[in-house]
Formats: sequence, structure tokens, C-alpha cells
Amino acid sequence: MQIKGNTFIVTGGGSGLGLSAARELLRLEANVVVIDLKDDGKSFFKGQEKNVLFVQANVTSEEEISKAIQQAIDKFGGNIRGVVNCGGIFSVGKIVDQSGKPLDLESFKFTINVNLVGTFNVCRLVAAQMVKQKPLEEGERGVIINISSIAYEDGQAGLISYSASKGGVASMTLPMTRDLSRFGIRAVTIAPGFFDTPLSSAAATDEKVTQKLINQIEYPGRFGKPDGEFNKLVIHLIENTYMNGEIIRIDAGTKLGKL
Ligand SMILES: NC(=O)c1ccc[n+]([C@@H]2O[C@H](COP(=O)([O-])OP(=O)(O)OC[C@H]3O[C@@H](n4cnc5c(N)ncnc54)[C@H](O)[C@@H]3O)[C@@H](O)[C@H]2O)c1
Repeated sequence: MQIKGNTFIVTGGGSGLGLSAARELLRLEANVVVIDLKDDGKSFFKGQEKNVLFVQANVTSEEEISKAIQQAIDKFGGNIRGVVNCGGIFSVGKIVDQSGKPLDLESFKFTINVNLVGTFNVCRLVAAQMVKQKPLEEGERGVIINISSIAYEDGQAGLISYSASKGGVASMTLPMTRDLSRFGIRAVTIAPGFFDTPLSSAAATDEKVTQKLINQIEYPGRFGKPDGEFNKLVIHLIENTYMNGEIIRIDAGTKLGKL
């Protein structure tokens, strides 16, 4: 899929990985629809209003995401050629805590709702739009990129809700690919390791924890860079039509062990 001149949606585009992907798409002359729950990130796109539409919306809302898609079509005309689903949250909590109390069911449901249901909601609504669009070269209509986490495979203690949500995102990859293949729509999932964003800063609470996390990384022994490492992969996955139905870890060889 060509980037220049095409329209892409980036959820969670107001911060971290989504912000980086959105900026890179803009640099490559795409039109970008940034969707985020918060409007803090809007200022990053100041002066670029011609090619950016910032929509404050919740990925879990059918109404808000449908409206955002319509706004995108109205502003940029016609087609949405890709979506990068970075909107998500991190959560920690053991199934039973030290005092014997079970994890609050609402907190589990909340994580599943934002990370899994929200990702699915955006995918289904964007895919329904893509299906209506005229195909390009080789019948390609669009590309969907979802963000899981290496915790979908190597979930550590305390990550039960987060890992379950990211496992769901990863497991959707193949059936989504198979459902959408006939329309020329690809689906791929990125499973990042530790990347330097506000989310990972919240997880790495102090120096000691940060060092513990870094010790699990092979080479290079540092957090990944959203700019130039994460966004390079996003761009590759958009541009390379032969990438489909895959879950790709980008983690410098990290395998999360027992904490
Ligand atoms: N940073 C990492 O190390 C890392 C590693 C693995 C996976 N991930 C995943 O990558 C994605 C992006 O993470 P990040 O590090 O950029 O985090 P971040 O907190 O910097 O950005 C996430 C963005 O998503 C938005 N968001 C949250 N809930 C939303 C909702 N309901 N609707 C719309 N937007 C919502 C937030 O407002 C925020 O701007 C997340 O799904 C995260 O789980 C991150």
C-alpha cells in the first residue's frame, strides 16, 4: 500500500507509539486521522491541519468511531487505506493478591474492553468502510495493523488482565486475515517489547524496576525507540503487500521471565 496521498487512521495517536506512527505517516505525505480518548496530543499536530484530522473518541464506542470514520471521509474524500490501532492501556494486578483478595472483576473487564473490544470495534468499522472502497493494484483495499505486546506470550505475574487482552488481539490476527482476504484487506499484528513511551514509564516505576526490565532485553539493552524503530516497522507493514496474517515481535530478543 502506497503511503503518499492515502488516508490512514491511527488510534491512540496522541501519545507514544501511536503519536510516532502518525507523525511518520505525515512526514511521508499521508493524510492522517488521529483518534484519541484525550486531546492532549492535538498540539503535536499544530500547523498540519491540512493533512491531519484529530478526533477525540473512545475506541470502544460504536457511535464515536463511526462518526470519526465519516469525518475522515468528509475531510479527505473517499478512502481509508489503513488503520494502526495503538489506543490501549496497561494494567497490573494479580488474580489473588497477597491478602487473598481476588482481582476486581471490573478492572479485568475494563482492560479487556479497551484493549481487545476497542481494537475489534475499530477494526470492524474500518474494515466495513474499506470493503466499500475501490481496490487498488492487485485488488488491495486496505491494511489493518493491531498492537499486541510480548506479554501476549510471556505474561508475567501481575499481567493477567493485560496479557489476556493482548492475547485476544494477537489471536484475532489469523481469522481477521481470513475474513478479509477476499476483499484485499490485510491484517497484521505487532507485539512490541519495552518501548520508551509514557505507558512504559508508568510501568517502570523506579530505577530498580527499570533495570530489572532492561536486564531481560538481549541486544540492544535499552528500551526501543518509537521513532525510527517502531514506526519503521509500521511503515514496512503498510508498504509490503506480502506481509499478512502475521504476529511480529519487535523486542530486541526479550523473553519475559519469572519476576
Ligand atoms: N510502550 C510499550 O513498551 C508497549 C509495549 C507493548 C505494547 N504496547 C501497546 O502499544 C499501545 C500504545 O502504547 P503506548 O506505549 O504508546 O502508550 P501511551 O499511553 O503513550 O499511548 C496510548 C494512547 O492510547 C490512548 N487511549 C487509551 N484508551 C483509549 C480509548 N479507550 N480510546 C481511545 N484512545 C485511548 C491514550 O489516551 C494514549 O494517548 C498500547 O496498546 C500498549 O499496550 C506498548
